[in-house]
Amino acid sequence: MSKSLSKIVVLISGSGSNLQAIIDNSNNIGVEISCVISNKKDAFGLKRAQNAGINTKIIKHQNFESRLDFDKKLIEEIDKFNPKIIVLAGFMRILSDEFINYFAGRIINIHPSLLPKFKGLNTHKRAIEMGEKYAGASVHFVTSELDSGEIIIQKKVKINANDSIENLAKKVLKQEHIIYPKAIKQVLSKL
Ligand code: GRF
Repeated sequence: MSKSLSKIVVLISGSGSNLQAIIDNSNNIGVEISCVISNKKDAFGLKRAQNAGINTKIIKHQNFESRLDFDKKLIEEIDKFNPKIIVLAGFMRILSDEFINYFAGRIINIHPSLLPKFKGLNTHKRAIEMGEKYAGASVHFVTSELDSGEIIIQKKVKINANDSIENLAKKVLKQEHIIYPKAIKQVLSKL
C-alpha cells in the first residue's frame, strides 16, 4: 500500500543541486514537490524540476515595488498548494517578517557553514581566511534573524591546507545533498 506523501514547495534562485537531491530522494523521504518557485527566470533548477515533471513558477522580484509586495505574491502562490513545509534551496532573497510569521515554524533553509559561524555570504572564503579547521553545512529553521533559527542537522567537512574556495565549496555541497533530504524527513516527522 502506498503511504501518503507530504507536500512541499521549494524556492530557488540558481543551480538547484540541492533541489535535485530532494527530487532524487523524494520517494525515500515521503515528499511530493508541489511546485518549484524561482525569482530568476534562468535558474537551472527550473529545468531540473521540469525534467522531473514538477510544476514550476517564476516570480521576478523586480516586478514588485517592495519586498512585502513580492512576499505577498509568494504567499499567495505557495498557499495554492497548501504545503506542509517551505524549503529554501539556494533562494537568494531575504524574506520579510510577514512571510516568516505567516509560515511560522514551517520554513527551512540550508546554509553552507557551521552555523552560528559565518552567517551570510562568502562562507567558504571567510572560513579559509580565518584558518578554520572545519567548514560545513547547516539546515535550520528560518526566523526573522538571518541564518539564526534552530539548527536541524549539521555536517562538518575538514578544511585541508591546500583547499581552494571552489574545492571546499564542492566538498560541502556534496554533504548538503545528503543532509537536506534527511532534515526534511526529520522535520516532517515532527509536524
Ligand atoms: C548552497 O551552497 C546552499 O547552501 C546555499 O546556496 C547554495 C545553493 O546551491 N544556500 P544549489 O542551487 O542547491 O546548487
